[in-house]
Amino acid sequence: IASAREAARSAPTLDELRALLEKFEGCALRNTATRLVFADGNPKARIMFVGEAPGRDEDIEGLPFVGRSGKLLDRMIAAIGLDRSKAYIANVIPWRPPGNRTPTPQETQICLPFIQRQIELVNPDVLVTLGNPSTQTLLSTREGIMRTRGKWFDYDTGTRTIRAMATFHPAYLLRSPSYKRMSWQDLRAIAKALAAS
Ligand code: URA
Repeated sequence: IASAREAARSAPTLDELRALLEKFEGCALRNTATRLVFADGNPKARIMFVGEAPGRDEDIEGLPFVGRSGKLLDRMIAAIGLDRSKAYIANVIPWRPPGNRTPTPQETQICLPFIQRQIELVNPDVLVTLGNPSTQTLLSTREGIMRTRGKWFDYDTGTRTIRAMATFHPAYLLRSPSYKRMSWQDLRAIAKALAAS
């Protein structure tokens, strides 16, 4: 298990990283999930979105953000003037937690090297973390989304610094639509940064 995590850190391509995860037995979530949910979109995209973990629809289809939240994420991507062919989408956790429970800190730590390497390989100009778990894990903060959203962070891959912004998770926006206005402000800032980079 330790060696698979080590291997993740140096997997030369996204395909090899995915193959490592397909074989990885260090995370018990794989035993209850239907399948691995690795990523969707364009591996050459300049923008990458990272959510928390797959839900029921994603577990069935094997792709991230294909359910109701995914439809809203598509509109968020459209607000930047893009679509999935120009964005890359993944989750911190690549297997559905039973009953969509929140992943434990231990599960998150076990999966972390895989998403870190995925970010490094995609090497986007802008990284967008969706909601608290993704933001707190990847941007190393304990602050909640109300304080982190809309601000620029530096995401350090070890070889490069990537500009990163946190915004609301689409599932949260579905429950609390009044935050959509703030979310769209964040998306405008992201579009501006992409245009300038
Ligand atoms: N929520 C997430 O965080 N990720 C998905 O892929 C779907 C819903």
